[in-house]
Amino acid sequence: MKEVDGTKTLNPEIKDAAISYVKKLFSKSDNTELTRALKKESFKRIYMKMVLDPDEFQPKPRPADIEPWHGKKPSGPRDFLKSKVILPSLPQVLLQIQQVLNNPDSSADDLADVISKDPKLVAAILRLANSALFSFRTEVDTPSRAVALLGFKQAGSLAMGTVSLSLFKRSKSSSILQVEKFWKHSIACGVIAQELAKIANLGDSERYFVGGMLHDIGLYVIFESNKGLALELMELAKEHDESLYGAEHELLGFNHAILGGVIIKDWNFPHSLVVAAAGHHNPEKAKNDPDAGVVHIADFICRAIGYDLGISHILGHIEPAAWDIIGISGDEFIEKMPEIQSIIDNIFEILNPQ
Ligand SMILES: [Fe+2]
Repeated sequence: MKEVDGTKTLNPEIKDAAISYVKKLFSKSDNTELTRALKKESFKRIYMKMVLDPDEFQPKPRPADIEPWHGKKPSGPRDFLKSKVILPSLPQVLLQIQQVLNNPDSSADDLADVISKDPKLVAAILRLANSALFSFRTEVDTPSRAVALLGFKQAGSLAMGTVSLSLFKRSKSSSILQVEKFWKHSIACGVIAQELAKIANLGDSERYFVGGMLHDIGLYVIFESNKGLALELMELAKEHDESLYGAEHELLGFNHAILGGVIIKDWNFPHSLVVAAAGHHNPEKAKNDPDAGVVHIADFICRAIGYDLGISHILGHIEPAAWDIIGISGDEFIEKMPEIQSIIDNIFEILNPQ
């Protein structure tokens, strides 16, 4: 994107449009060094996108075949889940992985056995274990080797995260949510969360990868279950120049983060994943748990670098408490950005949606 660095070569009209787009995008964000760096990168990306794909920035007509939302506020997330909701069903292999992880008598061999039964999972785990996310010196060529090198818990979370991605599928009827964008958002958030956890020396960094991948499951369920509601949420957020999160509170009385936490809890997933999803918009409420803070920051960064869901034009801000909770500053992240971008590209290829 060299040409964007030299302002002389820019088309003035597109440049102005990109500037005002980025200004709005970051209008609720703070003015830290990290935000300024993200803003600069964002301008280059948006400018290029406006040149190459101007249609993406045109207002889209409201899809005609979508029934309007009934407008009745549910009494809470559980009430919402009782209505006609599209809840992804957990694949058998995921249940088996959970069983192995929850059984104190399980061994590394048991986990490797479960993974081995699913060829797609084997391929994904081996490619992940050999990727830049990990820096093993030897090649990882079997599931048992992967479990031995990664460790029982870490290999288990990685397997869970990989299978969990398959939950997010394109629904048969027209979707408001672009599933490819959702995948990329989830994976990029997972990679950034894991890298943040590594910089902050939090240990067990794989769990943050999974936490990042699953954090927006509540949003997926809202958008796939009730398209009329989804449209109304997007329109309200646009009208009030606020994030989708604010619109959810207004129409539903709760937000997708809380809903996601309830779903993940009902699935008996580890507590850290419940906290990561439930607290990713309010990390200050989960002070004793770094998972929400890590995913909160990762979510902001991944949307700022272009892995957004295409449903909101305002990024919001990083809660300062999130940095305090994880004990690092944004500056420590800036220098790692190019490296992390290449890991994200690599993981996209590995976990490519089919
Ligand atoms: Fe979210």
